[in-house]
Amino acid sequence: MKSIIIYYSHSGNTAKVAEILAEHIRQNGSGELIKLESINEPKAFFTQAVQAFKRAKTKIKPIKIDLSEYALICLGTPVWAFAPAPAMNKYLEECKGMQGKDIILFVTYGSGLGVRRCLNIMEKEVRNKGAKKIFRFSIQESKVDKQSLASEVIKDALKNESNLYQHVYG
Ligand SMILES: Cc1cc2nc3c(=O)[nH]c(=O)nc-3n(C[C@H](O)[C@H](O)[C@H](O)COP(=O)(O)O)c2cc1C
Repeated sequence: MKSIIIYYSHSGNTAKVAEILAEHIRQNGSGELIKLESINEPKAFFTQAVQAFKRAKTKIKPIKIDLSEYALICLGTPVWAFAPAPAMNKYLEECKGMQGKDIILFVTYGSGLGVRRCLNIMEKEVRNKGAKKIFRFSIQESKVDKQSLASEVIKDALKNESNLYQHVYG
């Protein structure tokens, strides 16, 4: 089965989780890893936070992928001001082919404020695009370097969904 992981990461935490997820998936099939690259994103924390809070959509480098080719789609972002990063907002707006798909949404975060809200925002977007089953997990930034810990969080999030668990873990 083909899977794809599309993520945004500013300081590398979400990228690490995306890579761990990809490693698991690749043991059982193909797992493409795509990083969203934003164009002209503000560098200052405050501006980034304000934009995210306003649910802004920053320009991203074009991703010409039809998601309908994939059995499993994973989308990851850091939590910014209780919301997804603007690059993920943009991708969620423009992506195509989510109808009837299984989706894994994941976020990394600092304090933990807004994790649920951020995932709710993403879930609403993918539901509007026709996603069938949606699974979510979140990993605190201090845990992303501990590969086994991050793997446990992912395993735990998927354990009640045997099809998906098998898809990721074989
Ligand atoms: C602009 C900005 C806003 C943030 N807002 C939140 C927040 O609302 N809640 C939270 O728990 N962490 C927040 N964080 C922390 C990040 O979610 C956390 O460091 C994350 O792991 C960064 O992922 P990355 O390294 O993939 O960019 C924020 C970080 C930045 C830069």
